[in-house]
Order: sequence, then structure tokens, then C-alpha cells
Amino acid sequence: MKISADDFAEVPSPVMHDVHLEEVEMINAIYDLIEAVDAGSAEQARLTTSLDELLLHTQEHFANEERLMSAYHFPPYVMHKGAHDLFLAGFETIIDEWKSTRQLGPVRQFMCVELPAWMKQHINSMDYVTAGFIAGQS
Ligand SMILES: [Fe+2]
Ligand SMILES: [Fe+2]
Repeated sequence: MKISADDFAEVPSPVMHDVHLEEVEMINAIYDLIEAVDAGSAEQARLTTSLDELLLHTQEHFANEERLMSAYHFPPYVMHKGAHDLFLAGFETIIDEWKSTRQLGPVRQFMCVELPAWMKQHINSMDYVTAGFIAGQS
């Protein structure tokens, strides 16, 4: 099942929300690509490229939130950054495993189950509180 912008809150910072919407598009395109690779109608290399692009986008997304938290002296910075770091480590492991084993199962499980669940929980809690704090200071 694809992810939708309705699955998580619109955080009260347009800059932060727009990045989340960009990621929804990228994630849904990867869902299609996983099925196409599985059916033999798309090259594995296309999936590798798309996963690398999503990782880069996510790294920039998190780094920007961390810059904002730092600039506004958001007290739970360390906790929020810790959640980002843990997620990125898991995502990097999945991509590395895909590159070495070419097994679709773990990629599908991560992209279709773990990532959307994490994203909803993270945006609705840490991102929402962070965006609200920043909006209140601006
Ligand atoms: Fe975010
Ligand atoms: Fe975040």
C-alpha cells in the first residue's frame, strides 16, 4: 500500500512539511520500482539509484531539521537527532545488503512496512513538536 500525505500530520513549518511531501513521492515511486524489478520489467540498477537518491534526500532532510533545531536552541535536540541517526543507520544497512545480495525481500519489508510506520510516528511526534517550537519562536 502506498503512503499518502494524509497518513501523517502537516507540521507547522512549511519548509519541513514540503520536504515530507517530496519524500512521499520518492517512496511511492520506489514501491512501483520494487514491483517492476520483481516482475522483471525494470533493471535492478534503477532501484539502486532510487534508493541512493532517497537516502541522500533523507540525509539532507534530517540535516536541515537539525540545523533549525540548533539555530532555535530546541532543548530536545539530542533526542530528535538520535532518532534520525538510528533511522539512517538502518536504511544504510538495507541499501548495503541490497547492493551485495540483490534480495528484494528485505528492501520491500523496509520500504513498505518499517519506513512508513517510522515516518508516521516520527513526523507526528518529534517533527510536529519541533516545528511547533520553531513556529512559536519565529
Ligand atoms: Fe522530518
Ligand atoms: Fe525529524
